[in-house]
Amino acid sequence: MVDFYDPKSEGSAENSSSQNHDNAFNNTVLKDLGTPLVESKEQVTLTIDGRAISVPKGTSVMRAAALLNITIPKLCASDNLESFGSCRLCAVEIEGRKGMPASCTTPAEQDMQVSTQNAKIARLRKNIMELYISDHPLDCLTCPSNGDCELQDMAGAVGLREVRYGFDGENHLDAAKDKSNPYFTFEPSKCIVCSRCVRACEEVQGTFALTIDGRGFDSKISTGMDNDFLSSDCVSCGACVQACPTSTLMENKVIDQGLPERSVTTTCAYCGVGCSFEAQMKGEEVIRMVPAKDGQANHGHSCVKGRFAFGYATHQDRITTPMVRDSIDQPWQEVSWEDAIAFAATKLKGIQAKYGKDSIGGITSSRCTNEETYLVQKMIRAAFGNNNTDTCARVCHSPTGFGLKATLGESAGTQTFDSVMKADTVVVIGANPTDAHPVFASLLKKRLRQGANLIIADPREIDLGNSPHVKLNHHLPLRPGTNVAFINAMAHVIVDEGLEDKAFIDQRCQIEAYQQWRTFISDARHAPENTQDITGIDAEELRQAARLYATVTNGAIYYGLGVTEHSQGSSMVMGIANLALLTGNIGREGVGVNPLRGQNNVQGSCDMGSFPHELPGYQHVGNDELRTKFEDHWQVAIDNEPGLRIPNMFDAAIDGSFKGLYCQGEDIAQSDPNTHHVEAALTSLECLVVQDIFLNETAKFAHVFLPGSSFLEKDGTFTNAERRINRVRKVMTPLAGKADWQATMALSNALGYEMNYQHPSEIMDEIAQLTPTFTGVSYKKLDQLGSIQWPCNDNNPIGTPTMHMEDFPIGKATFALTEYVATNERANRKFPLLLTTGRILSQYNVGAQTRRTENQSWHDQDILEIHPHDAQERGIQDGDNLGISSRAGNTVLAAKITERMQPGVVYTTFHHPESGANVVTTDNSDWATNCPEYKVTAVQVEKVSAPSKWQQRQKDFSSQQENFLPRKRKGKAHLGS
Ligand code: SF4
Ligand code: SF4
Ligand code: SF4
Ligand code: FES
Repeated sequence: MVDFYDPKSEGSAENSSSQNHDNAFNNTVLKDLGTPLVESKEQVTLTIDGRAISVPKGTSVMRAAALLNITIPKLCASDNLESFGSCRLCAVEIEGRKGMPASCTTPAEQDMQVSTQNAKIARLRKNIMELYISDHPLDCLTCPSNGDCELQDMAGAVGLREVRYGFDGENHLDAAKDKSNPYFTFEPSKCIVCSRCVRACEEVQGTFALTIDGRGFDSKISTGMDNDFLSSDCVSCGACVQACPTSTLMENKVIDQGLPERSVTTTCAYCGVGCSFEAQMKGEEVIRMVPAKDGQANHGHSCVKGRFAFGYATHQDRITTPMVRDSIDQPWQEVSWEDAIAFAATKLKGIQAKYGKDSIGGITSSRCTNEETYLVQKMIRAAFGNNNTDTCARVCHSPTGFGLKATLGESAGTQTFDSVMKADTVVVIGANPTDAHPVFASLLKKRLRQGANLIIADPREIDLGNSPHVKLNHHLPLRPGTNVAFINAMAHVIVDEGLEDKAFIDQRCQIEAYQQWRTFISDARHAPENTQDITGIDAEELRQAARLYATVTNGAIYYGLGVTEHSQGSSMVMGIANLALLTGNIGREGVGVNPLRGQNNVQGSCDMGSFPHELPGYQHVGNDELRTKFEDHWQVAIDNEPGLRIPNMFDAAIDGSFKGLYCQGEDIAQSDPNTHHVEAALTSLECLVVQDIFLNETAKFAHVFLPGSSFLEKDGTFTNAERRINRVRKVMTPLAGKADWQATMALSNALGYEMNYQHPSEIMDEIAQLTPTFTGVSYKKLDQLGSIQWPCNDNNPIGTPTMHMEDFPIGKATFALTEYVATNERANRKFPLLLTTGRILSQYNVGAQTRRTENQSWHDQDILEIHPHDAQERGIQDGDNLGISSRAGNTVLAAKITERMQPGVVYTTFHHPESGANVVTTDNSDWATNCPEYKVTAVQVEKVSAPSKWQQRQKDFSSQQENFLPRKRKGKAHLGS
């Protein structure tokens, strides 16, 4: 009998996502089929140990056997790596062939007859294992991998009981350990030189930090140039640690605390990639985070943050008791949850009684779950009685929501991450994926190594363009603030040279809008020859780039905050959509408009109705029919006027009409622009309620502190940049006794609007009832499918991986006129340089989490990058303290001279509060959404010898506020476990 299987569901019995998500540790490791899935339309049928199976042509004998549940011993093979054939342990016999070929490197062929077991094969395997073990320490009982070691397993599998060779001969047992990486140790004496680590670094991560030095017996794993791991090119993603079949590369926490006992599947709480992880636990302690092999966003890979930087969750700086005070000049008093909630409710109600209903508002968190965010906006609309709700997306991707809704009819990206594997030309605009979206970057690099074209539009050279074996076709080093002139020039070339996709435009776009736009874009003012003085991009290079995007089968655009955080952020998003529509690059795999969203749940917080003008599912508060639906369900009247945006709240606070703010999981004092303005607003408030896990910069201005819960302490869902709803599962009890959704319920109840949910799944059920794009979503379905990409409803019962395949939510897509308007923020004699900001791999956003981990080893301060020419003009050397002044304020950072920068442009990150990067940024903002123009600030830079006045004041204020904590935490924050 032939066991047929469908390649699409290959291994599905073993790899099902619908398994129990809280498991005894050993049950969670999905079966390793030895070699990767091969996709082929042609099938071959072979017989292995007398059983027949059909597999796609090109599948290895090892994988075919594994699919029949026939286990062939292996050491160097793994199904996430190309086969290598070095250990020979997987030898088999094939009828009609000489010798014993390695099953991992032998493709299955039609009518092949394979034997995986006989006396001869067993003898060979035992001999091989004996050689391995003779150069391996025999300390299994005390080894951290004992019980989780493939070498040990294989010795057992081949029946090796004793080794004939002694340890007297030459061996590697004295090789020194490399403990330089703060999270894992390299112990070369245990290395079997299987090369899985080297291949994982190359094929999975795409960093190529490891190599095999030497030959034969002398071969050893090396980080190159005699570097240790920390000083090498290694980015600490941990793929090699995961790949290592022995304990040669091992997590320090496992070495110190032993192997985990159970595992819970959950989702990373850092970036918008939304990687799935197995939180492997001992009791209530996380021992390690292992990226889930069946994670649909990450396929078993992760970056340093998700895999290793989780110690902040149990850091001693966590505040786990509610606190209140009447004024920020007073010490905090610890109180019960009941008292804190009553205090906050009384203050907020008192403010409304005195200043009116609209004098208070709230900010939802893009770090919290969908369910928590939904509850906060519901509390604001129902209990506060106004629409003064906003979220951090205001300061990052609000132009994405606006621009994509206006052109494509939906406020979200169009693709899955996996779609990039079908792209022929990838355009990356204003994004730095290797630092900000690292797991997506690894996938992208894989596609680029396969030969896809790469165009990068960025004022700065980013690492993606210098990745090993990646060809950067065009770097378009545009000047900050000129995005729209650039995107218009791209579109002009395509129209000018007749490269548009006429059939797509005819069928899928509003023709009148297109004709109008075509006339607009055809004007000579958009020609690259006429914009090159504005953008700084060579006209011919831009023409070549436009052709490369327009003439391939699949062109895909990925963009980040370098697109949105501008005074024309919304215009630029629409310009990108125009370009994709013009070339027909929408509605299938390999193409699309892909915003790389920043925080873990920024997509979700927008979906959940955090904006002042939109109820959940982007349903406008001014639409009577839609609003009535919510009013009926919530049993409360909802204001039909949009409320205040974050910048409006700040302005109103300074004006005296806005007096109370509830801020959950968002550090506006550090992250929002023009810090002086933000601080003035916060100090004007009569009641600031902050809910967070640490005393962040905003909490230092607060009157009520409600302790938050980390992602490890609650159930819920996050939605990633691909619209993928992923489950977050509680692995430990909330340290403060309540998950965030429970605290919001308590506050709402105290304010007089009753909420009574027993579990977040009930909140999701309510979301599904009220939000057309979520009607098919439930926890049960999420458990069955692993994750769901919205829209998920009757038309798309298992979700929508690729958007706009047949039509657009608005029927036909529309082109938008995107006239370039120069920002007011221009370099001049007083401020001759342009400052632009961004992120770095090891730190995350305001750094509240990563600064409390060993990630500090890589980036313990923000620095200012400056081009050698600008540095020389100012007599600046590397490491000098530089005063950076703009019309908003000034701060001091250390200099780093680098040719990454173009002359006239400087760059910094904003991960450390004392840096004051946002003291310098201005309150210029996007015309449509008020998203701040972080990416363009005219500055002057000069050598100085002391911190700025703001930095000195911030230091004093911070230390005063820390002294106000009930249990004073002395000295610098200690590093997480
Ligand atoms: S470090 Fe581990 S994965 Fe790398 S070659 Fe040695 S045993 Fe293999
Ligand atoms: S941790 Fe990642 S980057 Fe570093 S050597 Fe291992 S695979 Fe390569
Ligand atoms: S890529 Fe993003 S989601 Fe994935 S592990 Fe890293 S920080 Fe977490
Ligand atoms: S597993 Fe096939 S040669 Fe190592």
